[in-house]
Amino acid sequence: MTTGRIDVHSHLLPGIDDGCKTIEESLACARMMVEAGYTHSFCTPHIWPSYAGNTAKAIPQMVTALQGELDSAGIALKLIPGGEINLRPEYMTATAPEEVVTYAMNRRYVLFDMWCDKLPEHVAPSIEWLQSLGLTVILAHPERMRAVQDEPGLADYFQERGVLLQGNLQCLSDATTARTRLIAERFLREDRYFMLGSDLHSFETLPPRLAGLRRAIELAGDEKIDALTKTNPGKLLPVL
Ligand SMILES: [Fe+2]
Repeated sequence: MTTGRIDVHSHLLPGIDDGCKTIEESLACARMMVEAGYTHSFCTPHIWPSYAGNTAKAIPQMVTALQGELDSAGIALKLIPGGEINLRPEYMTATAPEEVVTYAMNRRYVLFDMWCDKLPEHVAPSIEWLQSLGLTVILAHPERMRAVQDEPGLADYFQERGVLLQGNLQCLSDATTARTRLIAERFLREDRYFMLGSDLHSFETLPPRLAGLRRAIELAGDEKIDALTKTNPGKLLPVL
């Protein structure tokens, strides 16, 4: 089995969003990720107003605490802090630049999500604001957005603005007729994705996400999926 995969999207930190609920669940998920070939995982909790404790200062402390638990349990998964910013209209005006949660908290790459039927007006200026801070902007799971499902060509809108796309593994193991799966397969075929992540939320829902990894390999081959789960995610790692 191949190893060295880096998960770029996970809600592994316990009890701070709608992800893992307990340390035990986090450990069980981490163990399953290691068994699937992962050696690193970014912890990307939701950055929402309702989760006010998930800050650029607090997340690394929580990652250190969970890393201690993993180390004690002998689970060889290296955790790195991050976050998934919900791109609300007020985000860019309500957030100080130093409070923007980025991958590895090193102000190079930033992950955001949004849910919409049509692209709202604040999207372009919000992306431009993040880019003005010197950040490379990554959109989480475009295939799960209704606006993109209705108009897959919206991928061009983001890519023309320099936004990278992160696909969710689970979408590739959804029902064969599900729009999430059809779009994910299309984007994979069209080389739209910069990287693929699990977006793990719980122990119960982790197996279909990992089934999506196997399906991705079937569809695109080892070399391409290694690029999307190892090489490109490696660019997000802390610079030594
Ligand atoms: Fe997520």
